[in-house]
Amino acid sequence: MQPIGVFDSGLGGLTVVRALTEELPGESVVYLGDTARLPYGTKGAETVVRYSRLSARFLLRHDIKMLLVACNTASAYALETLQGEAAVPVLGAVEPGASEAVAASRAGRVGVIGTLGTVRSGSYVRAIAALDPHVKVTTLACPLFVPLAEEGWLGGADGDGDLEGRAATAIAERYLGELRAREPELDVIVLGCTHYPLLRPLLARVAEGLWRRPVALVDSAGAMARAAERELARLGLLALPAGPRAPGEALHCFLTDEARFAELGARFLGHPLERVERVDLPAT
Ligand code: DGL
Repeated sequence: MQPIGVFDSGLGGLTVVRALTEELPGESVVYLGDTARLPYGTKGAETVVRYSRLSARFLLRHDIKMLLVACNTASAYALETLQGEAAVPVLGAVEPGASEAVAASRAGRVGVIGTLGTVRSGSYVRAIAALDPHVKVTTLACPLFVPLAEEGWLGGADGDGDLEGRAATAIAERYLGELRAREPELDVIVLGCTHYPLLRPLLARVAEGLWRRPVALVDSAGAMARAAERELARLGLLALPAGPRAPGEALHCFLTDEARFAELGARFLGHPLERVERVDLPAT
């Protein structure tokens, strides 16, 4: 009955918690959002590794049975370091997303979109090459998608609608248009960032318009939740649902900065956060 620890640079990692609690309603989660240091996606490798180690150490003090690195940028730069230091299994976002993409691609051509850091790290390229060296991977950083998702300018599946929807559509067309120019044959795009599941309807619509056929979107948050379920089952650590739970029992959320947490938390989780505490992470 120990909780699963999940950390992210901010509240976007709640997309992983959402997928996890849908797949595994019996689990409890201790979540750390390092909102004071967000974004990780524009920072260098050493900084992201340092921040990730502080977040992991904080969660490891909460008697967790598994650590999930929900943040793609932290997974890309710090996963091996954290796996070498933690006494519990540590799962990242990259390998689960990569393996679902390889399984989904018939053309053997995969696109990966994410933060500057995730793309610069080359982690998806390496993960996909390790699974199938014949798959060609095209990566593209899409830095404006994070603020777009945080602002709630999501565009949606049904067209442009209001000015926010048109702005979101134009940005998605700009990025995916570049991906299309670089790889017209791809049939799968990995949403390699915590925030992108919110943009999924928009990205599916824009991708279909550009490629003139459906393009499969692999959501790394969902892929990670499914990988966590398999690993917990393999280790005999799955918590089965045991009746109704008190508010805040299933998810205890720690944040290093409290600004906008209610609005953003509800947007990424799909319902309001019930138990939130602000914390300062010890410097070591
Ligand atoms: N959580 C980050 C990721 O998935 C996105 C936000 C950030 O740049 O910190 O890469």
